[in-house]
Amino acid sequence: MTIKVLILILAGTIPHEIGHLPSLERLSLGINNLSGLIPSSIFNISTITLIDLHDNQLSGTLPANIGLGLPNLQFFFIGGNKLSGVLPKSISNASQLIRLELGQNLFSGFIPSELCALANLYRLALHQNNLTIDTSIPEVNFFSCLANLKDLSTLALSHNPLNAKLSVSFSNLSASLEFIYLGDCNMRGNIPNDIGNLSNLTLLDLAENKLSGPVPTSMGRLQNVQILDVHGNKLQGHIPDELCQLIHLNELSLYGNQLTGAIPACLGDLNAALRGLFLQSNLLTSTIPSTLWGLSDILHLNLSSNSLVGPLSEGFGNLKVVIDVDLSNNQLSGSIPSSIQSLQNLVNLSLASNNLEGPIPSSFGNLLSLVRLDLSQNNLSGMIPKSLEALSYLKYLNLSFNKLQGEIPTGGPFTNLSAQSFVSNRGLCGVSRFHVQPCKRKSDTSILKYVIPGILSAMLLVISIIWLVMLRRKKNVEATIETTYLPQPLYRRVSYQELLSATNGFNVSNLLGTGSFGSVYKGTFSDGVDVAIKVFNLETEGAFTSFDVECDMLSNIRHRNLIKVISCCNQNDFKALILNYMPNGNLEKWLYSQNYSLNMLQRLDIMINVASALEYLHHDYETPIVHCDLKPSNILLDDDMVAHVADFGIAKLLGGGDSMTQTMTLATIGYMAPGDVLLLVYVSTLYVMINVVVLKNLFYISYIAEYGTEGIVTRRGDVYSFGIVLMETFTRRKPTDEMFVGEMSLKQWVANSLFADAIVEVVDTNLLGTQKDPKFVSYNVCLSSIMRLGVACCVETPEERINMQEAVATLNKIKTEYVKEVW
Ligand SMILES: *[C@@H]1O[C@H](CO)[C@@H](O)[C@H](O)[C@H]1NC(C)=O
Ligand SMILES: *[C@@H]1O[C@H](CO)[C@@H](O)[C@H](O)[C@H]1NC(C)=O
Ligand SMILES: *[C@@H]1O[C@H](CO)[C@@H](O)[C@H](O)[C@H]1NC(C)=O
Ligand SMILES: *[C@@H]1O[C@H](CO)[C@@H](O)[C@H](O)[C@H]1NC(C)=O
Ligand SMILES: *[C@@H]1O[C@H](CO)[C@@H](O)[C@H](O)[C@H]1NC(C)=O
Ligand SMILES: *[C@@H]1O[C@H](CO)[C@@H](O)[C@H](O)[C@H]1NC(C)=O
Ligand SMILES: *[C@@H]1O[C@H](CO)[C@@H](O)[C@H](O)[C@H]1NC(C)=O
Ligand SMILES: *[C@@H]1O[C@H](CO)[C@@H](O)[C@H](O)[C@H]1NC(C)=O
Repeated sequence: MTIKVLILILAGTIPHEIGHLPSLERLSLGINNLSGLIPSSIFNISTITLIDLHDNQLSGTLPANIGLGLPNLQFFFIGGNKLSGVLPKSISNASQLIRLELGQNLFSGFIPSELCALANLYRLALHQNNLTIDTSIPEVNFFSCLANLKDLSTLALSHNPLNAKLSVSFSNLSASLEFIYLGDCNMRGNIPNDIGNLSNLTLLDLAENKLSGPVPTSMGRLQNVQILDVHGNKLQGHIPDELCQLIHLNELSLYGNQLTGAIPACLGDLNAALRGLFLQSNLLTSTIPSTLWGLSDILHLNLSSNSLVGPLSEGFGNLKVVIDVDLSNNQLSGSIPSSIQSLQNLVNLSLASNNLEGPIPSSFGNLLSLVRLDLSQNNLSGMIPKSLEALSYLKYLNLSFNKLQGEIPTGGPFTNLSAQSFVSNRGLCGVSRFHVQPCKRKSDTSILKYVIPGILSAMLLVISIIWLVMLRRKKNVEATIETTYLPQPLYRRVSYQELLSATNGFNVSNLLGTGSFGSVYKGTFSDGVDVAIKVFNLETEGAFTSFDVECDMLSNIRHRNLIKVISCCNQNDFKALILNYMPNGNLEKWLYSQNYSLNMLQRLDIMINVASALEYLHHDYETPIVHCDLKPSNILLDDDMVAHVADFGIAKLLGGGDSMTQTMTLATIGYMAPGDVLLLVYVSTLYVMINVVVLKNLFYISYIAEYGTEGIVTRRGDVYSFGIVLMETFTRRKPTDEMFVGEMSLKQWVANSLFADAIVEVVDTNLLGTQKDPKFVSYNVCLSSIMRLGVACCVETPEERINMQEAVATLNKIKTEYVKEVW
């Protein structure tokens, strides 16, 4: 028996017999639940090139002669276990090693300088152990021999008590070095000036050490650096202007040092790449340079706990996509700029402990993503704007120690706030829960002003309800479940004439878009109600056999995440649906247009909305409705960015039964389950293009039977499309992207990245923040869960796919976890 590749998924111990496979080349047992010792026989398989045991529960030590029997070993991955003892010097006898990754174990003792003999070493990862550097003979310690590793690209030693001076001669290190992780290594001394010679360095992490002296100006020569993190040291002096030459810099973390002087104005030059700027907890003075507000793509800005002065600029509003801003604990003065309302992605804002004065702008109510808002310890005056009640995600509000007056609002997030949010504002009044004076009521004469309109609207409501009930009974339609009632225009029949005048004669300027089976126009009825009008193109043969019946049915489907069918028009050859108009357009626009962007929470919410809509269609409606054509352009967004799924039930509209095959052709390539695509081989297709796709998908031939013989469209096809849309929403890649050729598809790409634990490489970079962001891990966990769900929805065998009920539950769980983790 000649086994060359062995991949197992196991718990328990690794059988000693593995060592008896004399031709084994690759052993992959990473990410399992293996425990016990690593059988030493593994280290005697001379043919082996890869040993991957990472992320298990393995314990014990490495044998002293480990490298002597491994002449072909190139990849040795045992990170993330409980291995202890010293690193045997004989590792260096496995001379073909390219990647040696032993991080996250309990190894202790010196890092053997023999490792420097591994001439092919590309990646060395020893982080999170208990390793030190032997400084007793400075000439031959590990730092001084590093220069021999000519191919080294990654050096990861962070979180080890190295207890050494940072005496590395960087100019002697290989120009191939790209990633240096030396954070939390208990290192002393200055940052050597020749660090600027590492021309290919991409990431430098020297954080949380005891480094002193200045930030070397030579760092300005690190032309390729993207992450520069030296936080938590004792660095002194100014922030050098030279750093502004680092045009690829994505994150600059200088916080928690003793840096003085002003923030360099030229940092505004880093606009193109900079996403995180962390200068907090230093001794910085002077005003915030106005150029900083030109960092229009920055996501995280923290300047807190310095001695910054001066007013906040109206330019604040230019930080269009920023997620958190912390300017607390400075001496900023003046009023809060009203331009702040443009920061639609802002989740966390702190301006606490400054000298800000004037009112809280009522436009704060537009900051719909806000979760934390801290304005405490300033001199703010005026009322608390009632518009803050609209901030439905707000979990933390602190307005304490200001000079605010008037009534504390009680709606929205205020229902869950306590007196701690309003401490020491002498002018505030409101309900007793807030430990403030009750408010004085207006005089009684004004009561009528409230009561009469109240009675009127109550009467109106009763009449509407009776009318609605009668309408429904007349149509003999069973009650539909309405999760949330939104005010919507009521059902009515409209004539072609009415539509003509509502759309200026179907004027091109009213055209919202054209789809596979018609055009959509924006219209405004004479009573001012805006609608979208979907006009069908009648060339779709055999369609519309029962348009009126199906249309009535559609107009009775109500769910807060489905586009409401207000009405239908069926006159002679003209057939149209009248739909609720969605002012914010579709998800496609929000994902791919330059001027729009969605943050993580918005995307999560949108996908929860979409999943809820499909769940309703699949499970809660009396006869399940299959959508058949879910894609981002069918997901529309209302004023509050709540998603509404459009074009559901078109399948039924076009006539059930026989013409179901035609419906299939309407579905959009890329979002269809593989079986759906194949079915098209057997029907006369509307699109030439489909044939091309079919050829690419012959791989899935075994699924013809499933759809072909039964001749029905199943809900599982929608689940597949949902999975694709979910992955697309968070990767910002269309399934039809040109990178997906051959066997590589969006699904495969995402699945591979999950397997390699490299989800950051596929997700939309706008979502990520930066790797050193404290929230990065939570983002990563959340995104991985989302992608796993996407993959689960796209399992090739329909029977193994999850259903929409499970998808909704999973997404809600992911959101809860995320919100809990991140805030
Ligand atoms: C490896 O093989 C050699 C010779 O075949 C043998 O002497 C040695 O004991 C083996 N080592 C281990 C750890 O099995
Ligand atoms: C193991 O490597 C060391 C140098 O790292 C060398 O001195 C020694 O001779 C090698 N041993 C064998 C058996 O190859
Ligand atoms: C770390 O290593 C030192 C010796 O280098 C030892 O004294 C200490 O106990 C080790 N700590 C842990 C947690 O293993
Ligand atoms: C380091 O860079 C400086 C300035 O570019 C250069 O003068 C010096 O020769 C470099 N040192 C090495 C060892 O390459
Ligand atoms: C760096 O390399 C140069 C030339 O190869 C050598 O003279 C010098 O001693 C090296 N410096 C260190 C600290 O290893
Ligand atoms: C800003 O930095 C301070 C100090 O490191 C930290 O406590 C605070 O949470 C940071 N603010 C944000 C918004 O992350
Ligand atoms: C208030 O808190 C409760 C329990 O934590 C939660 O269920 C409810 O949704 C919150 N209400 C608002 C308006 O945030
Ligand atoms: C708001 O800040 C003040 C001090 O600045 C503190 O006493 C109070 O507890 C904070 N409120 C909340 C809700 O954390």
